Amino acid sequence: MLKVGIDIGGTKIAGGVVDDTGRIIEKLRVDTPVDTGSLADAVVDMIRHLRERHHIVAAGVAAAGFIDRDRSVVIHAPNIAWRNEPLKQIFEDRLEMPVAIENDANAAGWAEFRFGAGQHVDHMIMLTMGTGVGGAVVLDGKLYRGGHGIAGELGHVRFIRGGLLCGCGQNGCLEQYASGRALQREANDLADAGGIGEGLAQLRAEKGSISGPAVSRLVLAGDPGAVEALRRVATALGEACGGFQAAFDPELFVIGGGVAQLGEDLLAPMRIAYETSLPGYGDRPVADFAIARLGNDAGLIGAADLAGSED
Ligand code: BGC
Ligand code: NA
Ligand code: ZN
Repeated sequence: MLKVGIDIGGTKIAGGVVDDTGRIIEKLRVDTPVDTGSLADAVVDMIRHLRERHHIVAAGVAAAGFIDRDRSVVIHAPNIAWRNEPLKQIFEDRLEMPVAIENDANAAGWAEFRFGAGQHVDHMIMLTMGTGVGGAVVLDGKLYRGGHGIAGELGHVRFIRGGLLCGCGQNGCLEQYASGRALQREANDLADAGGIGEGLAQLRAEKGSISGPAVSRLVLAGDPGAVEALRRVATALGEACGGFQAAFDPELFVIGGGVAQLGEDLLAPMRIAYETSLPGYGDRPVADFAIARLGNDAGLIGAADLAGSED
């Protein structure tokens, strides 16, 4: 049975035809349009193209926001201009086929659980580090959706009291300290402060603002300023995982998103922060940490797999 999965990212929309084993048969990518109208057009076009060439039974669309229990409306999106946006309706009216809307991190986490890094466990948490911090909670082999469909918004758990303003309207959310965007901010701050940030300071002088990928390149080159910026966000995420362990007791944390490409450079400081903030550490079992295995495809694979299912 073939389904289409679409992942609406901040810069790209990725769409693919996916089979029951999570394999992508055909994939398309376009730039994400800025206004929400053209964005919907782009998704519809993509599904139409894929449907011309394959027999598709359903489509799943992953979006970065709070999705209602019926998997149809984006109730709120901290980093996009959607407020009670009836996406399912919009797509189904134009495509005349069943479409399910999924939270992007839930979709990615589900894909990792079924076909990627989490295949061997029953209790798993996924965290994605991109523009925001996304979360997915898999308990007893099921995606945990909560009472209103919005569970697993782990990036909006308060991390610092009275902390930085967040796109969700609150302040001090984990997302402000542990996202790809936070990594970029830490790098720019370190560059401005001088001293340790020499590689960073040079880049800042040349380019104005240091991009996320540039920070990653400097980390891989061993630049101490960039390594320090990464240590800060890894520590924030690791500390938060200590709390998630207390709440859900997962066997495994899977880390995805752009920053996760840094692999062990990210996981090593995360594990230290996690272990030192774990209630009862030393006496209790600890979770493993792994980097997402499906990379950028996780969202579309998970959205397709969840479409037309009860999960
Ligand atoms: C949103 C989540 C989303 C995450 C990653 C957060 O700001 O609240 O819904 O999963 O970003 O895109
Ligand atoms: Na989520
Ligand atoms: Zn928030």
